Amino acid sequence: MARITGSAYTSHVPAMGVAMDLDKTEEDYWVPLFEGVKPAREWMADNTPDVVVLVFNDHANAFSLEMVPTFALGMGAEYSPADEGWGARPVPKVEGHPELSAHIAHSVIQQDFDLTMVHEIDVDHGCTVPLSMFFGQPEEWPCKVIPLLVNVVLYPIPSGKRCLELGKAIRRAIDTFDEDLDVQVWGTGGMSHQLQGPRGGLINAEFDHAFLEQMITDPEACAQIPHVDYVREAGSEGIEMVMWLIARGAMGDLHGGAEPIERHRLYHVPASNTAVGQLILEEG
Ligand code: DHB
Ligand code: FE
Repeated sequence: MARITGSAYTSHVPAMGVAMDLDKTEEDYWVPLFEGVKPAREWMADNTPDVVVLVFNDHANAFSLEMVPTFALGMGAEYSPADEGWGARPVPKVEGHPELSAHIAHSVIQQDFDLTMVHEIDVDHGCTVPLSMFFGQPEEWPCKVIPLLVNVVLYPIPSGKRCLELGKAIRRAIDTFDEDLDVQVWGTGGMSHQLQGPRGGLINAEFDHAFLEQMITDPEACAQIPHVDYVREAGSEGIEMVMWLIARGAMGDLHGGAEPIERHRLYHVPASNTAVGQLILEEG
């Protein structure tokens, strides 16, 4: 059977992708961040999954105001990096796993989640920057990827509680897929950031650290944080953090298993005008 081996979490700041694409990671500005990422890359190299369910939001690149699905699951065999206005990132195509996608869609919809099924979509920095952060710059990505897109752009957006419950449903789906696969669920976005307006550049390290800690140790309480708290405390785009709860919901301790093992935690400011957070939880 397929099994969840861990979950990983990372901000997806596009400037981090640009730093890698333009070979700037050795520059003074970027060295502390990319030094900090090394333990995550080592863990990923030792624990490379067969498939990642990669939770992210499209930033009005594939979707527009014409259609805004709350939860959209990639069903395809491959996904191209999106052109976000300055050409597509020079990174490999993302290979999908249509059979596992079909199984997740079937199982999760039967568990009463109304997923939108997306057969063709280009994936933006929300998807490709996390892949680069954890895998570096390979010729091909070392695993297959199932994109799970969450609307955190246009209100109303799903609650933390709904996200945690969706993660649990995904866990139950993966646990019942009859193929020998190691699967990870990744949550992306966050931490503190507000990209526009008078509060642009807002960083609230205290909130970010408290979120990281509570999400690990008491995810059910963390899932109760209302949207207005994220936005007030961590900025308008800080709300992306609700997506981390989907990955957390897939961990075994919420399904009668052992507590996860924390393998990596990073908090760094600044990248662009935002904070970067990362976490890796291995199945206990
Ligand atoms: C930026 C964009 C993002 O989508 C994000 O999550 C963080 C930062 C940016 O444009 O700097
Ligand atoms: Fe984002």
